Amino acid sequence: MSASRRDFLKTAAGLPAMVMAAAMYGDEHRLTDDVEETRLVMRDHVCQFNMHRYAAPALPTLRVGYIGMGGRGYASMGRLSQMEGVEIKALCDSVEPQVSRAVDYLKEAGLPEPAVYTGSEDAWKDLIARDDLDLVYVTSPQYWHAEMVCAVMEAGKHAACEIPLAYTLADCWKIIQTSERTKKQCALLENCCFDFFESMAINMALQGKLGEVVYGEGAYIHWMNPEALIAGLENLPVPKAGAYRHITAATAHGNRYPTHGFGPVALAMRINAGDRPLYLTSTETDDFVWARAIDQAIRAGNKQCEEFVGKPFNGNLNVSTMKTAGGKMIQIQYGITSPRPYTRKFILSGLKGFVQKYPEPSQICLEGGVVLPEEGAQRVQEENTPELIKNLRELALRFGGHGGIDFTCDYQLVDSLRNGLPLNISVYDGVTWSALTPLSLWSVTHGSQPIDYPDFTGGTWKENAPIDLSARGAMTTKVNPR
Ligand SMILES: NC(=O)c1ccc[n+]([C@@H]2O[C@H](COP(=O)([O-])OP(=O)(O)OC[C@H]3O[C@@H](n4cnc5c(N)ncnc54)[C@H](O)[C@@H]3O)[C@@H](O)[C@H]2O)c1
Repeated sequence: MSASRRDFLKTAAGLPAMVMAAAMYGDEHRLTDDVEETRLVMRDHVCQFNMHRYAAPALPTLRVGYIGMGGRGYASMGRLSQMEGVEIKALCDSVEPQVSRAVDYLKEAGLPEPAVYTGSEDAWKDLIARDDLDLVYVTSPQYWHAEMVCAVMEAGKHAACEIPLAYTLADCWKIIQTSERTKKQCALLENCCFDFFESMAINMALQGKLGEVVYGEGAYIHWMNPEALIAGLENLPVPKAGAYRHITAATAHGNRYPTHGFGPVALAMRINAGDRPLYLTSTETDDFVWARAIDQAIRAGNKQCEEFVGKPFNGNLNVSTMKTAGGKMIQIQYGITSPRPYTRKFILSGLKGFVQKYPEPSQICLEGGVVLPEEGAQRVQEENTPELIKNLRELALRFGGHGGIDFTCDYQLVDSLRNGLPLNISVYDGVTWSALTPLSLWSVTHGSQPIDYPDFTGGTWKENAPIDLSARGAMTTKVNPR
């Protein structure tokens, strides 16, 4: 078993003891966890090469491989196969039918047949050893991400990874160090940053139209119906896909899916580009759903969920709060087991204005806390929509994928790499947003005590430039929708 999976399982399996120990002995048991193990790395880290806004040499022909051809990998491959200059060279999934349906798709589109890697959980290692790939998409379940992206960069390719990048701080640091040493990009595919409303609000914030943004709030609150997920474990057509991935992700405390909430707020508040989180505290309800549902399913004869018995399941709601070096505050919430409406919240509160995406309809206030009427709000949105999104909006709506954001996310990455432009989301961003998971886990299991937030940029956050959504020099990649 790989080091990162071992870490993940060790962290998850060690929790009940940690929770009890934290309650009984407080700080004495800090040494048991990953946070302590990485303190030395934090102290000694010096940025080797600043990957923030780093422009790698242009790749007009982008040769792409995929690891994990489930829901995300298959859909993304379909989108990329319609972009100019992209060649889909190789596909991997541990389960054979997942790859063959993707090969069939490319064949039907009249495109060259890719090489296929399948049949084992390690088949991806042969894919990344190829010498004809520039970029590898990691769209496998989240507990594989850190190990796979590091191996991809070590093999001399850029990595693009589904969310989150890592579950432990040790893996977060490994990703930073590997990217700085190899000078390979590691792009987090955080599609919500390219949502029409979020990107418009990021643009407003960066242009100062909201004044100093002193508070940001984000969330991933999405009822997943645990009973249905558990029932879905039985006779899975694809072992370890879908339901299995969700339940495995929920077997520990803390915010287990932080980047949809944190990413857009962090870009708007110049995290890693003028500010950074200093410390975090996190509080979580008990689990009122998972353990009960697992127990009931086992009594009803569902053998597939026996491996989850006794796990320290995530609570119904986790709330994590950060104070930044600039004196601002960010709150990120997470909960997937309470039946309530979907929300990513997305609040930016500035000294001159306020925006809030959820609950829809969204709200914009530019004077005295008065919500702009629909027409005025539409005008402000149109005026502040960044060039990148304006140029892509029509295509994005045509392609769809979470309302088009999956397309805009893929497109801006491909176009940046082909044009030799810096990435909109740097490796520091992806890691900083993902690190909320281990930090919140630590805080929850230590009575909500504050924990220092690592500076993954090694101090360069003070000079780093913020995201540039103006599309200057970009947008040359043509798309030929089928
Ligand atoms: N950004 C978003 O909006 C969004 C939405 C859904 C999922 N995701 C993320 O995307 C990732 C994939 O999600 P999904 O819904 O496609 O999951 P999925 O379960 O549909 O697909 C995962 C695929 O990976 C394969 N796989 C598992 N282990 C593998 C290995 N060792 N080597 C090769 N293939 C392996 C599985 O067989 C499966 O086909 C997850 O990390 C998830 O967090 C992101």
